[in-house]
Amino acid sequence: MQQRLSYDVVIIGSGAAGLTTALRLPATVRIALISKGSPDAGATCWAQGGVAAVLDSNDHVDQHVQDTLAAGGGLSDASVARHIVSHGRESIDWLISQGVPFTTDGQATGYHLTREGGHSTRRIIHVADATGKAISDTLLAQVASKANIDLFTHCQAIDLLTSDDGTRCIGICVFDLQQEQTRIFSSYCTVLACGGASGAYLFTSNSDGASGDGIAMAWRSGCRVANLEFNQFHPTCLYHPDSRSMLISEALRGEGGLLKRPDGSCFMPGYDPHAELAPRDIVARAMDREMKQLGAPCLYLDISHKPAAFIRTHFPTIYQRCLSCGINITTEPIPVVPAAHYTCGGIVVDQHGQTDIRGLFAVGECSFTGLHGANRLASNSLLECFVLARSCANRIGNQLSPAPDLPSPPEWQPSHQTQCGDDGVFTQNLKNLRRLMWDNVGIVRTTSGLQKAMSRVRLLQAASQRLYRDCTISKNLLELRNLTLVSELIVRCAMARKESRGLHYSLNYPALGAVAKNTILTPGQRAWRTQAAI
Ligand code: FAD
Ligand code: SIN
Repeated sequence: MQQRLSYDVVIIGSGAAGLTTALRLPATVRIALISKGSPDAGATCWAQGGVAAVLDSNDHVDQHVQDTLAAGGGLSDASVARHIVSHGRESIDWLISQGVPFTTDGQATGYHLTREGGHSTRRIIHVADATGKAISDTLLAQVASKANIDLFTHCQAIDLLTSDDGTRCIGICVFDLQQEQTRIFSSYCTVLACGGASGAYLFTSNSDGASGDGIAMAWRSGCRVANLEFNQFHPTCLYHPDSRSMLISEALRGEGGLLKRPDGSCFMPGYDPHAELAPRDIVARAMDREMKQLGAPCLYLDISHKPAAFIRTHFPTIYQRCLSCGINITTEPIPVVPAAHYTCGGIVVDQHGQTDIRGLFAVGECSFTGLHGANRLASNSLLECFVLARSCANRIGNQLSPAPDLPSPPEWQPSHQTQCGDDGVFTQNLKNLRRLMWDNVGIVRTTSGLQKAMSRVRLLQAASQRLYRDCTISKNLLELRNLTLVSELIVRCAMARKESRGLHYSLNYPALGAVAKNTILTPGQRAWRTQAAI
């Protein structure tokens, strides 16, 4: 017998998107906020650069929209971009009202704005180089003070529960990782705020939990997903044996950092007139090409020409973390490589986060709103989380009154009886998957590489389905099940795109197609629902 809990709204994920949705809902709404790790374990806490918003009197919404569309390679939805950008200031004012201590410019009232690739002006508000941690700490403290929000940590959502006809989400089944038992949460509205799927790649700026759980759960329940071929590779992650997943913020380039070959020469001016501040897809591809041509394991990011005090003040976290690896960024260049960073596609939603299923919403990195197109503009991600979470909370708030009557979810029947030994087989399969995706579905792709990836991903997926059917549940098993599915969806999207656009670059189709089209996948309803019920 599983434990059953009932709430008005269940939110899966305690990053920027989930926390903001919870805090923006009326205080009368009973909310369960669920997170599979510690509450600050997602990408949000690691965000460095900041939040893009039109805050300077010389900046304009039109300009920010224009920069977003230019980075998006013809695929960003202009009306969505305008909706999100024009709510930027309101979102920042709300964050300030919650207590986020944004870095000031030394004047009485102003905030310091930094610059990142693809932005035509300085418009990134930040908290030194640890913006995400400040936002996460502040919003989590606010959540802790709210009587209507119950936080469940170390609880991993397994699958959504839907009405018999599959058109209405009525809750979610969750595995409590500490109690080692499943729980059923029934709710009028369920919000997926589970982050991205960059964990599909061997090298990533993300922490381990970026396993596309939200995308996988939504797909298994019958929601469409879109544009998963556009996984963004951040150009500069630290290349060092003692450090995994350490991002070196683009703001370093915004403040004058230069990308260099091992011989100290600059190369970005040869690729784009904006040099180091070209959009990310261009910089990552240029680095990939330079590394392959030179046979170099890494390139270098150099800001040592700036005064040491300036570097230490603006980038205290990066300075300290590099120093702990024996690199003094005030005197020497930083070895860097590109790494998987951000999932531009995701669960198809409208401007309120509504998915294809009634009662189910998605916000943040797991969603596809149309904002990012073929390549996300730097620091537009957190902005999207804050604006969409607010729109989503407004929509849910309106739907909740008067209080609805819902059927209770059925008893969920896991069959997972067998102890399958240690997690070794799951972690080995995960490693194989990540290597496969890195080698064949990375910055530069080929048709034969995608075909190879597809056939092997399908084998790994079949194996993970068998393990899921037979074995007792564990965190790694659930993540393997989700990542193999999302990887298949990524490859399917990549194979469907017969052109090169934004983050998807194919040697077999190097030209830009005449018409910009989103890649939208629709699940075969019955087959996927059957799998979810195993
Ligand atoms: P996340 O913050 O990733 O949170 C996901 C949540 O879902 C977590 O709480 C996780 O535990 C939970 N979860 C996932 N699966 C399950 C499950 N099955 N069950 C229960 N809980 C689950 N963007 C910017 O705009 N500006 C930046 O400066 C910036 N810097 C970045 C730096 C780094 C190193 C990284 C990795 C990303 C950066 N990004 C930045 C991107 C941005 O941080 C993310 O896109 C954004 O934080 C995503 O927020 P989210 O709430 O959607 O997801
Ligand atoms: C960074 O600080 O470089 C990350 C910004 C982002 O991903 O938007």
